[in-house]
Amino acid sequence: MKIGVLTGGGDCPGLNAAIRAVARRALSYGWDVAGIQNGWAGMLDGGTIRPLTAESVSGILHLGGTMLGTSRTNPLKREDDMEMVSDNFRRHKLEALVAIGGDDTLSVAAGLFDRGLPTVGVPKTMDNDVSGTDYCIGFNSAVSTVADALDKLHTTASAHHRVLVVEVMGRDAGWVAVVGGLAGGADYVMIPEEETELDDVVLHLEGRRQRGKDFSIIVVSEGAKVRGAMERELHEVDAFGHVRLDQRAIGETVAREIQRRTGFETRVTVLGHLQRGGSPTVFDRVLATRLGVAAVDYVKEGRFGYMAGLQGDQVVPVSLRVAVSANRVVDKGLYELARIFY
Ligand code: F6P
Repeated sequence: MKIGVLTGGGDCPGLNAAIRAVARRALSYGWDVAGIQNGWAGMLDGGTIRPLTAESVSGILHLGGTMLGTSRTNPLKREDDMEMVSDNFRRHKLEALVAIGGDDTLSVAAGLFDRGLPTVGVPKTMDNDVSGTDYCIGFNSAVSTVADALDKLHTTASAHHRVLVVEVMGRDAGWVAVVGGLAGGADYVMIPEEETELDDVVLHLEGRRQRGKDFSIIVVSEGAKVRGAMERELHEVDAFGHVRLDQRAIGETVAREIQRRTGFETRVTVLGHLQRGGSPTVFDRVLATRLGVAAVDYVKEGRFGYMAGLQGDQVVPVSLRVAVSANRVVDKGLYELARIFY
């Protein structure tokens, strides 16, 4: 048996732990493991593939990034590319492929499965928005970084009596903003799923000042829906066709508008790729290990077209089609919980 493994989409902490888990479990079954470089790009042209051994995946459990590299190359964009991926699948004599990624990467795996190729998925994205799993690899590490940043920003906001707007990642779902904001004691959270009225934020900030709270921390998802803020026109897209939300600079827009309307000195911090760097947390290391091992076991059982997901405390098979059907949006209860502490 020969199985391939790749990591696609934006990187996040925990990818190496997942690669290690896939490789170690497969090697324990006596299989050959092929490491595909740079996501789906490594399955195009001649294919960029190298064998993974117990030695090559040793010492990587705690490392951020991905030893395989990643890309946002999307073969679904061109029929010829899907053909090329399928040809390379056969040419490299792969009998199964484990794709570790978010909804974009997993939708390619689902497309290949629909063409009869044996694929299995592992959900990773710091955005935590893949359906059918309570957690994606990378999310816990990202929100730990956000909470740590909020702790640090609190002290400087308080010392200078400022409003600090903190922009975090989260294109379609506000998990990072809500959970990071809850953990870091945010005074307002803006997310893509719930429209925020800037008037409401202004009233809230003024109310806090009247109650003697002379500083505030506001967490804004990069994809937050905000009414009352002038939007920039966005044109540039990434390789998957997504608009570059960093260029939206919603944090800066919100900060400027708050200062203009309240007169409170307001600054912005964009956490950006810091949220995707560094060592995975214990939670992510264990999650990646459980999901990677389960994915290989699905291959062993011939259970293709599935993703290993975490539901409650159980790892369960989730159809890839279900996983990529829609973004998993923020739990309304968690959003309301955060609001109690504004
Ligand atoms: O991985 C998803 C994500 O974190 C999104 O929240 C964000 O829009 C995107 O990555 C930015 O990624 P990059 O800067 O690598 O294009």
